[in-house]
Amino acid sequence: MLLSAEQAEAFAAGLFAAHGVPAGDARLAASCLVRADLRGVDTHGIVRMPGYLERISRGLVNPAPSLEFDAIGPSMLRLDGQNGLGFVIASRAIAEGILVAEQQGLAMIGVRNSTHFGMAAAYLLQAIEAGYLALVFTNASPALPPWGGTEEVFGTSPFAVAAPNPGGIPFVLDMAPTIVARGKIRKAAREGKAIPPGWALDADGAPTTDPDAALQGGTLLPIGGPKGAGLSIWLDIMCGVLTGANFAGGVGDQYKNFDRPQGVGHLITVIRPDICLGSRDLFGARMQELVETVKNNRKADGVSEIFMPGEIEARTEAARRKTGIPYRVADLALLAGIARLHDVAVPDGL
Ligand SMILES: NC(=O)c1ccc[n+]([C@@H]2O[C@H](COP(=O)([O-])OP(=O)(O)OC[C@H]3O[C@@H](n4cnc5c(N)ncnc54)[C@H](O)[C@@H]3O)[C@@H](O)[C@H]2O)c1
Repeated sequence: MLLSAEQAEAFAAGLFAAHGVPAGDARLAASCLVRADLRGVDTHGIVRMPGYLERISRGLVNPAPSLEFDAIGPSMLRLDGQNGLGFVIASRAIAEGILVAEQQGLAMIGVRNSTHFGMAAAYLLQAIEAGYLALVFTNASPALPPWGGTEEVFGTSPFAVAAPNPGGIPFVLDMAPTIVARGKIRKAAREGKAIPPGWALDADGAPTTDPDAALQGGTLLPIGGPKGAGLSIWLDIMCGVLTGANFAGGVGDQYKNFDRPQGVGHLITVIRPDICLGSRDLFGARMQELVETVKNNRKADGVSEIFMPGEIEARTEAARRKTGIPYRVADLALLAGIARLHDVAVPDGL
């Protein structure tokens, strides 16, 4: 079934608000989730809402934190997320980072006591749409071992970086250090489909195509073997060890650990594009040259077009803003059931 972005946002915001999230924050969180759906990253869209709402209901996510930044240097800030919604915390952190980077050229914000923030690109886009480069890091609950190990410790913590290109195609790279985000395995499990070989191992360390075996005691495989595993450790150092958030396997799994908040950490960096060149226009011209070099590369056999990272998602977003976002009725029906319990308006046709 198709919903417009506005319909999906209003529905999601209504659900958050009915769980005690202040109206402005409810809209912010909803817009991050719907942006993922718009961009085709539907593993991180509103389909995930039952999990977030359940954690609010159980008192494990604070619906109304009062977020205050603590400046510990001209460019460095800290934020205690008070177990609020990761969407709200990361959106606020990027917005604050933009203000500081405008003055200082660079801003870095260490966030502790946060929760799952969904698609990292939601915050990268906030920065590049305002004309800034950004690095958005988070750690995540255990999903993979260190290289050579068998016990899941580190997260599918996305490495997410972006650069603006005014008037042209920006660079938006948002990738888990595993072959796929765990959301893609959960999606396969929900839809009763097998996963391709090479994504995950089962609890005995054997390759599996069964998503349930991967999720129940199994581990995810990193990109590039030890390199992806090493990247996941780095994200845990930046977001956990450095910021004061949980780390080394301590981040709670939002679907398994119902005895405590998650303790997620983020490290968010915003860079003003003229920091080295002294000119935003010059940065823009150099980005444009880089993008043209990428797009005009001689194509490999069978390739019809070369894309910048993030370009396919941007095209999907442009199309879905016109046609609407396709959702599975079963996923929306689950949300509609929760909405009816809380007197939240449900989109027509559900
Ligand atoms: N919050 C969390 O804890 C958490 C954890 C894991 C993943 N995630 C999210 O899951 C989402 C999916 O992650 P993923 O690793 O499965 O992403 P993915 O594999 O779908 O994409 C990774 C990157 O590759 C780029 N890409 C893909 N095909 C391309 C092509 N042909 N040419 C150029 N670039 C191309 C994409 O634009 C994207 O930037 C991300 O948004 C991530 O933030 C969140």
